[in-house]
Amino acid sequence: MDLPELGSVKGFWDLRPTIDAYLGPVDYRGKRVLDVGAASGFLSFEMERRGATVVSLDLDGPERRHFVPFADPRYDPSAQREYYGRVVPALHRAYWLAHRLYGSRAQLFLGDLFNLPAELGTFDVVMLGMILPHLRDPFYALECVLRLASDVVVITQPAPGMPDAYAYFMPDPATLAPDTAWWSMSEACVERMLAVLGFTMESITRAEHACLSRGDREMCSTYVARRRFPLR
Ligand SMILES: C[S@@+](CC[C@H](N)C(=O)[O-])C[C@H]1O[C@@H](n2cnc3c(N)ncnc32)[C@H](O)[C@@H]1O
Repeated sequence: MDLPELGSVKGFWDLRPTIDAYLGPVDYRGKRVLDVGAASGFLSFEMERRGATVVSLDLDGPERRHFVPFADPRYDPSAQREYYGRVVPALHRAYWLAHRLYGSRAQLFLGDLFNLPAELGTFDVVMLGMILPHLRDPFYALECVLRLASDVVVITQPAPGMPDAYAYFMPDPATLAPDTAWWSMSEACVERMLAVLGFTMESITRAEHACLSRGDREMCSTYVARRRFPLR
């Protein structure tokens, strides 16, 4: 993030050069947007800069994360729990720092995407950046958040190059990794899930985004789909 007063602050990813692709070919002006899994808010503040009114959603505590329960005694579940016990409050603090420095009017809702209160209202655009692969049940996650989506959904995440509607189960009991990622879904899979929920795919764009923590780039697909039937 480029923050007023502080300058450039490094994170795990640098989405700045490829942010147009990451957010998809969507006109955010005047839209009410839900940023699901907002983390420190980079996407929220960028969508707000483009004219959206943003509600950022992230989890209210580390225990909400879906850790892979490797039964192998070599796996130490406490390490990840301790790490996220520190990271989750740090992300909240980072969000509020950036919020203050940008003079943002975005709202932060801390909770669980599987249990969203109706009081949040509905949204013209629901954005899910790199979150579905981290959830045990990505289809149910979509079902829950898209109840609040009156028009457009944007999803950005990597996709294996399979022609069929394919979901690959990522946790490997041999290497005990990854322990916070579950599913890698092909483009056809995401399209099919969205179609089940009444959304028609309008565009899929692909771009490589810079992952600073790994020192490489990762190809991601950005899906933009639109609701076909009225909300009920
Ligand atoms: C990999 S980060 C993605 C950050 C950002 N959306 C992006 O695309 O760069 C995933 C985020 O989802 C949040 N998250 C995970 N499970 C969640 C849940 N059940 N409810 C709300 N947020 C959740 C995590 O706290 C984390 O901030």
